[in-house]
Amino acid sequence: MSHNPNLTWYKDAVFYELYVRAFKDGNEDGHGDLKGLLTKLDYLQELGVDCIWLLPIYPSPLFDDGYDVSGYRGIHEDFGTLEDFKAVVDGIHERGMYIIVDIVVNHTSDHHPWFIESRSSKESTKRDWYVWSESDQRYRDARIIFLDTETSNWEYDPLTGEYYWHRFFHQQPDLNYDSPAVQQEMLDIIDFWMELGIDGFRVDAVPYLFEREGTNCENLPETHDYVKRMRAHVNTRWPGRILLAEANQWPADVRAYFGDDDEFHMAFHFPIMPRLFMALKQQNRKSIVDILHRTPEIPPLAQWCIFLRNHDELTLEMVTEEERQYMWEQYAPIPRMRLNLGIRRRLAPLLDNDSRQIKLLNAMLFSLPGSPIIYYGDEIGMGDDIWREDRNGVRTPMQWNSSNNAGFSNAAQLYEPVLNDPVFGYELVNVEQQQADPGSLWHTIRHVLEVRKRHKVFGRGTFAFALPENEGLLAYWRVIEDASAADSPVEKVLVIVNLTGETQQTTLDLSECAGTRPVDILTDKVWPGVDHEPYSLALAPYAYHWLKF
Ligand code: NOJ
Repeated sequence: MSHNPNLTWYKDAVFYELYVRAFKDGNEDGHGDLKGLLTKLDYLQELGVDCIWLLPIYPSPLFDDGYDVSGYRGIHEDFGTLEDFKAVVDGIHERGMYIIVDIVVNHTSDHHPWFIESRSSKESTKRDWYVWSESDQRYRDARIIFLDTETSNWEYDPLTGEYYWHRFFHQQPDLNYDSPAVQQEMLDIIDFWMELGIDGFRVDAVPYLFEREGTNCENLPETHDYVKRMRAHVNTRWPGRILLAEANQWPADVRAYFGDDDEFHMAFHFPIMPRLFMALKQQNRKSIVDILHRTPEIPPLAQWCIFLRNHDELTLEMVTEEERQYMWEQYAPIPRMRLNLGIRRRLAPLLDNDSRQIKLLNAMLFSLPGSPIIYYGDEIGMGDDIWREDRNGVRTPMQWNSSNNAGFSNAAQLYEPVLNDPVFGYELVNVEQQQADPGSLWHTIRHVLEVRKRHKVFGRGTFAFALPENEGLLAYWRVIEDASAADSPVEKVLVIVNLTGETQQTTLDLSECAGTRPVDILTDKVWPGVDHEPYSLALAPYAYHWLKF
């Protein structure tokens, strides 16, 4: 039943996250759709990404951009049909790429027929599909996630005079995983989409499946048991397909979601993300080194997913209070930039549109341990608009060219207007213009992906810091024993980056590699030979090198 002969393909893959509504409008109704996406698959292939991750595509009132599902076995009418979806899946596979989709397991929309049925009466056959209570005082140790909009995780429902439980917006009631029927239904939904040929799921909001009194209702043993059931199901029926966990937690808690290779194949590494930004502002590597030292080893089949930005606010949940204040001061000086415990900005504006810093963070993203994810539009340095509602300002239409509506659509009215400000507006920042400019961010990223693809060490190699005395420099070894590389059985790459805006000098003990001449695989430049003396280096401001020995 597997169509993936390489069962661990995800370890080498570069992911590309996109919101169908924002990518390309195929029927000129102002909403991006699957037909539009189909016409852009060549673009994604040309960029060199391996796996496309689609944000939720299901029927939904789109109160939370599809994370409020009102039907699990269909496609939102604005996005197309199941036939269109199948065509996208086939188109992606024909181009040698993979596709995963979001599955929202923790909650549904309050428009979902299950919930309508459940709330209709205490005797409803679907009553126990959701979490109901006479009191809003249960599970008081559970935090509120959408702090800017919700004041409680309970919502009173006048229809039956009881409260229902929700971890996100109150329009998103939580499913009750104590119900065997709910547990089974989700496995059936998994099968439905796997049968359509997808390569796996990004599983939304994993830590919150169960509730237990006296706990914070996150990462409970019951949740892990259910995840094990999901994985066993996928392993048996869909080998080669993956489950990727969205669990915004500390590394040790996320580590538990890999189990003994019997829970998730992949999980996002949330805590490293803000620390990449922090290190850049502090011009010091310490925060990155600390968090990676705090990151446990993962089992052989598991892989981290790392990212710089995504469709949500840049989350600051996995930092200390002091670090959060620092990040807000540095990266969200205008209060409106802040949302919940995070920052609603895109990559390029966060970095003051400084192409050196944008390239530097990308060079780290593509060489640190794990599979990297690009958020659509970040490959051209798209901007944002903090004045739009909620997280809409980082979900604006993709900027393809400088024609009307950025080449996204010819409709008079779009789901969200294209960006048109003097710095990030579509006439200046767009795919066409960057493809025509060999020095553009787009070309840089495409080149880095091409290089990465030739070196298995990045997806599969070991990781170890080299800690030069100068803390403005971050350096790490990626090493793999059996690289199946033509020239040598061991592949050894030293990544070294300058986190500061000044030239930095240092020396490194490379005596282990004495007698060799490193080559920067990003530029093909050969560096001075290594001997038993300390190796002297000077790095230009925000420079990065991938030195192969
Ligand atoms: C996490 C998703 O990334 C976010 O966009 C969504 O609002 C919540 N889960 C709720 O589904």
